Amino acid sequence: MDKRFQDKVAIVTGAGQGIGEAIALHFAEQGAHIVIAEINPETAERTAAKVRAFGVQAQVHVLDIGDHAAVREMVALVAAHFGRIDILINNAGVNERVDLMDITPEQWRWLMHTNVEGLFFTLQSVARQMIAQVPEAVKAAGRAPRSFGKIVNLSSVTGRRGRANAPQYAASKAAVISITQSAALRLAPYNINVNAVCPGLVETPMWDYIDLIEGQQRRGLPKGAWLQQRVEEKVPLRRPATCQDVAHVVAFLCAPESDYLTGQALNIDGGYEMD
Ligand SMILES: NC(=O)c1ccc[n+]([C@@H]2O[C@H](COP(=O)([O-])OP(=O)(O)OC[C@H]3O[C@@H](n4cnc5c(N)ncnc54)[C@H](O)[C@@H]3O)[C@@H](O)[C@H]2O)c1
Repeated sequence: MDKRFQDKVAIVTGAGQGIGEAIALHFAEQGAHIVIAEINPETAERTAAKVRAFGVQAQVHVLDIGDHAAVREMVALVAAHFGRIDILINNAGVNERVDLMDITPEQWRWLMHTNVEGLFFTLQSVARQMIAQVPEAVKAAGRAPRSFGKIVNLSSVTGRRGRANAPQYAASKAAVISITQSAALRLAPYNINVNAVCPGLVETPMWDYIDLIEGQQRRGLPKGAWLQQRVEEKVPLRRPATCQDVAHVVAFLCAPESDYLTGQALNIDGGYEMD
């Protein structure tokens, strides 16, 4: 029996660890070939080996998603090898905790380079390829009979409201929601679906970093205690998200069941935010 993403070609940025790795493995398990676009060569190869264990292809591109030429080259190589790109998961992102009064232009630009500029131009490059895959007759009709691509961008509940101690991260994730809406409008005539997800508190290496700064260094708490406290205060479902919780919703947004969803930002947060 065919699997849900049998022979689909999916690019996952930042697939070396955390949420991106979980998405890559979940999609591979469902039959997709995975393109790993990752800045860290070791974690990229580690994920690739796990992907191949599912009997699908894994292609590794070690790059910075903010390097537009490298991203364009990757898209051309993927299209040449597989003949098409069906799915883009724009997951790679960075975080830095710094008080609004202390942030420097360098810190602002460092984060925006990946979270906004890198994400936007990766989307643009892949969208160009997806549009090229749409038959001319469909383009002429201005309305597509089925989906010709799925794009999911990783925002955050932090994109829903400001953060005094991570204002640049909050702004970047709000920008991801806006980019998602703009791209959904632009790509709708080709029936390319563009949606975002907004995870809340997810147990990943990024979260370990925030726990170190906010819990251990700033408040003198033991490892993991701040996360637990935040979960109890903020999350009605009373547990942090796993990477699989996020991967499952992302898979839904890439499956035919969600063909009529576009331009949306879905919270995956155990009820933390409700708008
Ligand atoms: N962990 C959370 O609680 C949480 C919550 C909401 C949203 N998110 C978002 O989900 C996404 C994944 O988060 P995570 O917790 O798995 O992070 P993570 O730090 O564990 O993993 C991020 C991955 O992206 C890669 N990466 C970073 N910059 C890159 C670049 N310029 N080019 C290519 N690869 C790059 C890293 O090497 C790493 O493998 C991010 O966009 C993050 O902002 C995370």
